[in-house]
Amino acid sequence: MSAYNIQKVLSVHHWNDTLFSFKVTRDPGLRFENGQFVMIGLMVDGKPLMRAYSVASANYEEELEFFSIKVPNGPLTSRLQKIQVGDDLLVSKKPTGTLVLSDLLPGHNLYYLSTGTGLAPFMSLIKDPEAYERFDKIVLVHGVRSVSELAYADYIENILPNDEFLGEMVREKLIYYPTVTREPFRNQGRLTDLITSGKLFDDIGLPPLDPATDRAMLCGSPAMLHDTAALLNKLGFEVSPRTGTPGDYVIERAFVEK
Ligand code: A2P
Repeated sequence: MSAYNIQKVLSVHHWNDTLFSFKVTRDPGLRFENGQFVMIGLMVDGKPLMRAYSVASANYEEELEFFSIKVPNGPLTSRLQKIQVGDDLLVSKKPTGTLVLSDLLPGHNLYYLSTGTGLAPFMSLIKDPEAYERFDKIVLVHGVRSVSELAYADYIENILPNDEFLGEMVREKLIYYPTVTREPFRNQGRLTDLITSGKLFDDIGLPPLDPATDRAMLCGSPAMLHDTAALLNKLGFEVSPRTGTPGDYVIERAFVEK
């Protein structure tokens, strides 16, 4: 039996020269937890070429959405960035991953800390009603180099807060904090620096990170994960050691070698 299903591309959106997202049909048998990833790919020279992608849609949505970088010579993304509506996409049948709400201990405030395409799993999680039920505030930090990389900003700021079902919870609890490092923007600097200096907390009106009250989920480059985890550890946070054993925070690598 094959490890993947063939799905159809339903829409493609190019955010800029380096980022795009797309929606595909979802196999009725595919079940996943918000924050998990699947393998997706294309047939290349008669063989499936697959890479890990976080699902950016919520697990109750009918379509599957993915958010991708375009790597000019990337084995998969050099091809994937050319996909068109109606094309085939291979999607693995077994979702997995560590960025799941069930691996977080109870707390008051939940921080979604992301850089680059590490935003993808949080696009799913910001649509999860369970997160809003479990936490008083949810802070989504998205760090990027340039303003054009702030994908989904309009959706997060203007569309989700008006969603028929989630809107009220989102308006009450979700704080979106985009930050840009290499261009002028209203928020600037690396999220690690904004946490260390306390500027993030001044700006959003919450107390500095505290393992007694706060929980976090991290998704970004290996360097970002390393530095952010070190910072959290220094503050006394304990990472979930494995799936099924909850901790103060969980980590997932943004899958960029594409
Ligand atoms: P910077 O511009 O200062 O490198 P990338 O595209 O390289 O993954 O970077 C995405 C965003 O993550 C950029 O804003 C980048 O800032 C930031 N970043 C890179 N490395 C780290 C790190 N170790 N800790 C926090 N943020 C980082």
